Amino acid sequence: MDLRYINLRVEDGTAWVQFNRPEKLNALNPDVFRDLETVVAQCEQDDDIRVVVLMGNEKAFVAGADIGHMAKGDIKTACALTDLSMRVQERLADLPKPTIAAISGYALGGGCEVALCCDFRLAADNAVFGLPEITLGIIPGGGGTQRLPRLVNLGAAAKMIMLGEMIKSEEALRIGLVEKVVPLKNLKEEARILASKLMEMPFMALRAGKTAMRKGLNTSLKDGLQIEQNLFCMLFGTEDQKEGMTAFLEKRNPVFKSK
Ligand code: CAA
Repeated sequence: MDLRYINLRVEDGTAWVQFNRPEKLNALNPDVFRDLETVVAQCEQDDDIRVVVLMGNEKAFVAGADIGHMAKGDIKTACALTDLSMRVQERLADLPKPTIAAISGYALGGGCEVALCCDFRLAADNAVFGLPEITLGIIPGGGGTQRLPRLVNLGAAAKMIMLGEMIKSEEALRIGLVEKVVPLKNLKEEARILASKLMEMPFMALRAGKTAMRKGLNTSLKDGLQIEQNLFCMLFGTEDQKEGMTAFLEKRNPVFKSK
């Protein structure tokens, strides 16, 4: 796989996806987005990958879309960039496997948006979140105005989107933008522990739970309930359902085979 700005390492079922453009705080230009799309496609296809962890470096998860690239552009450039970023991020959000953003340093603009596409967000105590696009005379263009208010309360989202306020990890935890804050030195280990827990879960049920949540968020309650009902019934055709319930009745731990 020909990647320039992202490192991908698969280890014990976990894909470690690390943004690697440190000289620009991992800012997302079209090449970085294309690398991310290649990686997401690989994670979709590779059955050995069960969990995906996205991370940056100590100073930056990702400091946003590349302002140098955007500054030179016109409406056509902006449309091409947002088409690309929306497509890649939607694909990331829809990945039928659990995703974890392990965030240290800056997660701004497009970086915050990438994190918003993940199922779980773990923050190091040095993380800083923001959608500062308004300070550049624009608004988020990779889903931030839609995904953030679906996750945190509207006022907290408005502060970030309409005032461009940056917040630290503790505040991100308070408003529900992240699930946990850990010391920077423990971030990778915490991501590894979460990935291991997810890998113990029966895969078909894990996937169904994610699909029901994600699809349900984009539809009416009535349609969402129908999605849940269909997936619930479908799981009764899996070996893991038989094993899970038999193990409960036999008072032992289940051994799931993800079948
Ligand atoms: N785009 C391009 N380059 C960036 C960048 C970005 N988003 N963020 C940082 N960089 C570059 C800097 O220009 C600098 O490069 P040079 O050394 O070549 O000058 C290098 O990364 C290091 O950055 P700083 O020297 O600025 O580091 P700092 O510690 O002083 O400040 C920072 C860190 C507060 C994150 C600051 O870099 C910053 O404000 N960055 C921009 C953040 C931002 O506005 N992000 C939103 C972008 S718009 C967007 O994302 C739109 C969208 O949704 C699609």
